[in-house]
Amino acid sequence: MEQASGSKAMQDFLEWAAPGSVEWRMARELSPDRIPGHIAVIMDGNGRWAKQRRLPRAAGHGAGVKPVREIIEACCRLGVETLTLYAFSVENWKRPLAEIETLWTLLRKYLRQELPDLKANGVRFQTIGQTDALPRSVCREIDRAIMETAANDGMRLNIALNYSGRAEIVDVVNDLLRQAHRCDQSLQVSERDLSERMYTASGGDPDLLIRTSGEFRVSNFLLWQIAYSEIWVTERYWPDFRTTDLLEALLVYQKRNRRFGGLPDQSPEPLTANVPATNGKLLAVNK
Ligand code: FPP
Repeated sequence: MEQASGSKAMQDFLEWAAPGSVEWRMARELSPDRIPGHIAVIMDGNGRWAKQRRLPRAAGHGAGVKPVREIIEACCRLGVETLTLYAFSVENWKRPLAEIETLWTLLRKYLRQELPDLKANGVRFQTIGQTDALPRSVCREIDRAIMETAANDGMRLNIALNYSGRAEIVDVVNDLLRQAHRCDQSLQVSERDLSERMYTASGGDPDLLIRTSGEFRVSNFLLWQIAYSEIWVTERYWPDFRTTDLLEALLVYQKRNRRFGGLPDQSPEPLTANVPATNGKLLAVNK
């Protein structure tokens, strides 16, 4: 899902970027009507960034906050509708406790400091993942940010916390099974049923998935939703990621020919019209 018309947002971005700056020149190359509606980012390389500088890993995470701020602001100004950032996976619990606690401290501090700006920019803050398992003090900050930004109508910001793409799919399937039990009838599940229940359903599937630090992996992130996302990988470690990198990703994205399995001259939307009726029957529960 791309913006119908991004001209106003682009104008806003160009006014904000210093005229003649690299950002300004790069943004002028972009087509305002083809800004991705949903961008997802796997922020990776904090540890290696720190190691390169002989610093503790915590310093890498600390330095990762600046690009978080910068990318949120740039995406808001460019008119991106949804930004999803992968901050903590279910697998990240395997890390040393001290590192995990550093991440919670940074997140709490970030939310406390940035909430006024998020509100002022009309951002709707949300989380995806099993946040019940997070420390109570983190949950309190998260709940506050969600509550205080719920009525905003600007960019939707999803932070993935204790997130796993496989666990999300399992959650959705269990939800459907519960529904089948309640209704006491056979259930035929379609792709649409699953899509509508995914944690990111309201923001649609990502158009663009960015991964930093040069790794070509999806790391259990949005497994269902990235079926047709364009993927862009940069060697840059996350703490060094800047607005110019985002703009480079957008320039590459806009040159891609998105076919969704169709032919180049067909509609650039996911094709559903000619899909055989049986296609969606992934699971049948007969009671
Ligand atoms: C991956 O780098 C990064 C993380 C697991 C955490 C991401 C957290 C931040 C960017 C800090 C702040 C976040 C918010 C939302 C305020 P890594 O540690 O796996 O790096 P490595 O692969 O080089 O070891």
